[in-house]
Amino acid sequence: MFEKLELLAPDAIIGIMALFREDQAPNKVDLSVGVYQDDTGNTPVMECVKRAERQIVDAQTTKTYVGIAGNMDFNRGMEKLLFGADHPVLAAGRVATVQSPGGSGGLCVAAHLLHRANPDARIWLSAPSWPNHLPLLGLAGLRLESYPYYDYDAHAVDFDAMMACFEKLDAGELVLIHGCCHNPCGADLSQVQWQALTDLCERRGVIPFIDLAYQGLAESLEADAYGVRLMAERLPEVVVVSSCSKNLGLYRERTGAVCVVSSSPEQSKATATNLANVARGIYSMPPDHGAAIAGQILNDEALTALWVEELDEVRRRINGLRDLIVAKLAERGAPRDFSFIANERGMFSFLGISKEQVIRLREEFHVYMLESSRINLAGINQANVDYVADSIVAVL
Ligand code: LMR
Repeated sequence: MFEKLELLAPDAIIGIMALFREDQAPNKVDLSVGVYQDDTGNTPVMECVKRAERQIVDAQTTKTYVGIAGNMDFNRGMEKLLFGADHPVLAAGRVATVQSPGGSGGLCVAAHLLHRANPDARIWLSAPSWPNHLPLLGLAGLRLESYPYYDYDAHAVDFDAMMACFEKLDAGELVLIHGCCHNPCGADLSQVQWQALTDLCERRGVIPFIDLAYQGLAESLEADAYGVRLMAERLPEVVVVSSCSKNLGLYRERTGAVCVVSSSPEQSKATATNLANVARGIYSMPPDHGAAIAGQILNDEALTALWVEELDEVRRRINGLRDLIVAKLAERGAPRDFSFIANERGMFSFLGISKEQVIRLREEFHVYMLESSRINLAGINQANVDYVADSIVAVL
């Protein structure tokens, strides 16, 4: 039966990561996969994570299952982190949450829930979006559509085009919005734009599905949840999928959450049973370790304070690298203006160069990025920034 399976091309992101690992050049630079790197090129374990981990290991007496919905301390902690402790939807009992195996597992669970609720559901993804949104949502049976988002010439959100597209949607259609740090373009909605989008969703009965994989990496933990909090306050139904991969550096521990806001507390109880039932049918129970760590941090004031400090430093460093690479490119007389990179947020920006130039950078200069020219700013450091800038200018 397997003869029907054809050899597939490598994954658009993980395939580049594999090519980088095989490259033996001493001056190679990885600007591809979205993991944070410090100034030495290492992806560190945060100190708050180390401390929480030690506490957990010392206190742990069993490895029995935690439960289908996962670690409840983690789930409650994530709800407060996303919505804010005093948010009316939490007080009203309108949020159902399950821990998920990473943000990706959360996207999959949410997609299956939506398909169960409405087998004809259509979800609109931004053009461009994270490539893995397509299989994660599509394999659940959701019908995928695409809306205009990024204007490659203006290096900015094409808000008018996006809104014009959403004006034509029917009630019950879903729109996937990146909560902050848009992956891949780094161009986010302003607060005024979130307000206008919320008005539209309210008026047309469109349901937002917010992917918040980078909370804390744009402006702050609070500011980055602006859209989630606003929409949850104003709209009857909102889906939020979040991840601890980036903001807690828990990548391989696969830690995320799905929070579904329903129109009433009664409905929320039914939603919760369906969320758990969907999760049970896909992977039965989530892994424990990452959520135990995040739960420990979120429910301990001292650990939370340490985390916020460490996360602030990560964000400051990435934003500093944005300014630095823009300055270095200008210094070298790059024949175009890259200043837009300094205004974007999160790990990613498009350089806006051609696929041929990206391949030249990889093959001749050992500088790796996605073929779309998405770079991970965090892969730049003091030791390689001049080389990166020189290499980019050389291929322009
Ligand atoms: C990325 O976009 O590079 C990250 O989210 C990692 C991944 O799994 O694709």
